[in-house]
Amino acid sequence: ATVTYDFNITWVTANPDGLLNRPLIGINGQWPVPYITATVGDRVVVNVLNQLGNESTSLHFHGIYQNGSTEMDGVTGVSQCPIQPGGSFTYNFTIDQPGTYWYHSHETAQYPDGLRGPLIVNDPNSPYKGQYDEEMVLTVSDWYHDEIPKLMKSFISVTNPTGAEPIPKSALMNDTYNLTTPIEPGKTYMFRIINVGAFAGQYFWFEGHTMTIVEVDGIYTEAAEADLIYITAAQRYSVLVTMKNDTSTNYAYVGSMDQSLFDTVPASLNPNGTGWLVYDDTAPLPTPALLDTFNEFDDFTLIPTDGEELLGPVDYSFNLDLKMDNLGDGANYAFFNDITYVRPKVPTLYTALSAGDLANNATIYGINSNPYILEHNDVIEIILNNNDTGKHPFHLHGHAFQAAARSDKDAGKYVGNETFAAVPMRRDTFMLTQHLARIWFFHCHIEWHLASGLIATMIEAPALLQTTLSIPPSHLDVCTAQNIPTVGN
Ligand code: C2O
Repeated sequence: ATVTYDFNITWVTANPDGLLNRPLIGINGQWPVPYITATVGDRVVVNVLNQLGNESTSLHFHGIYQNGSTEMDGVTGVSQCPIQPGGSFTYNFTIDQPGTYWYHSHETAQYPDGLRGPLIVNDPNSPYKGQYDEEMVLTVSDWYHDEIPKLMKSFISVTNPTGAEPIPKSALMNDTYNLTTPIEPGKTYMFRIINVGAFAGQYFWFEGHTMTIVEVDGIYTEAAEADLIYITAAQRYSVLVTMKNDTSTNYAYVGSMDQSLFDTVPASLNPNGTGWLVYDDTAPLPTPALLDTFNEFDDFTLIPTDGEELLGPVDYSFNLDLKMDNLGDGANYAFFNDITYVRPKVPTLYTALSAGDLANNATIYGINSNPYILEHNDVIEIILNNNDTGKHPFHLHGHAFQAAARSDKDAGKYVGNETFAAVPMRRDTFMLTQHLARIWFFHCHIEWHLASGLIATMIEAPALLQTTLSIPPSHLDVCTAQNIPTVGN
C-alpha cells in the first residue's frame, strides 16, 4: 500500500512542560507532531511544504535504510538542498524494515524546536506477535525554553571556549509533563520507547513492573528482562510489560535525564519526565521514588533474533579519533581525525552523481566533509576513539551496524585486543563511552555536536549510484531556486 502524508510545517505555540508558552515547530498546525505509521512493504510519500517563513528545513527518517533511495534520506548538504521558506519537497520511498523509528528535521540544529515525531512500521510477521495485547508509543525528550538558534549562537562562540552544551530545562514524556496511561489489569502491553531529544540520554523504568526488551532500533532481539534501561538521544526500545491483576494502586514510570552529560546542573532543572500506569482513576498518582544509582541494562548483551554472526573478514578498517577543541577562533568545535565537518556547497550525493570517474576520489567531496569511499558489500570496521571526557551516541545512516565491542571508560586507545561477541548486538545508534569498534552520514546524535562538526560522510559505491540513482527534478529545483549548484563540488 501507499501511505501519504501532507505536512505543512509552521510555527505554532505550545507549553509542553507547563512552565512556558513558546513558539515551536509544528505540522499542520499541530504539536506534538503526527506519527508516521506504515506496514512493512509500504510505500511512504511525505509531501513537505515549508511555511516556517524564517528557516529552511528537511525531514530525515531515522533508521530507515533507504536502500536504493539515498536521495530520500533528508540530510541537507548530503542528499538534498535545504527546503527554503515557501519551498516544497516530496519524500517517496518504500520501507521493508519493521520496528520503531522516528523522523526529524536534518537541517542543522532544528529538530529540538519540535520537528520530530515517531515513525512506526508494523509487522504482520513479528516474532512477538500474540505475546502482547496492545501497543503504545512513549517518547522521551529533553526540552529547552530558548529557541535553538539562540542557544546555538552562544554554544559555538568565543564566549563558550570550553564548548559547554546548552542544558535543558525539563524532561518530557509524550511531549508533556503529566502523562497518564489508562491500562487494563492483566494485559501485556508493548511500549515503543523513543528518545526524540537533542542531547540528554535518559534512564527509563516502570515502578513495580519488569520490562522485557524485544526490539532495539528496528532489530528484534531475543527477549531480555530489564528493570532499567538507558536510552540515548535517537535510540529506541520496544519492551513488553505485563500489568498486575491487582487494581488498587497506580504506578509511575520515569524517564530521568543523565545529568553526567551536563557541564552544570542548574537548580531549576526538571530532570524527570513522569507518566503513570493508571489501574484506578480514583486512586492517587504516586510520586516516583528517586534513585541514587542507576544500574542500567547493558545493551551489548542483546542478541538479534536473526542470529547474524560477526561479519568478517574486514575489507576496510579505519579509525575515527574524536576530540573537542578550539579552531583558533576561540570557539569550541568537534573533530574526527582533526577535521571538523563543514557542509559542502554541493550536496555530497549530487557531487557523486556528477563527478564521473572522479567520484571514487575522496578529495573531490571536500576534505572538510570527512569523506570515506566505501565499496558495496564490503565489511567495514570503524574504530572510534573517544578522546573527549563526555559520552557520545553515534548514529550511522543507511545501515544498522554490529556493535562489536565497547571498552570500559578510560581504557585508552583501541589496540586490537577486544573480544567480539559471536552474534553481536546490532542497532543504528549506540553509546560510545570510550571505544568501539551508499552516501551516509555518520555522526554524534547530540544535536549540539552535530552542529559543532562531529560528522563523517560515507560514500558507498559512487559508481553504482551513478548507474542506479536518478534525482527527481523537483529535488534539483529546490537547489536552483536558491542558486545552489547541483553538479561538481
Ligand atoms: Cu536521526 Cu543523522 O539522524
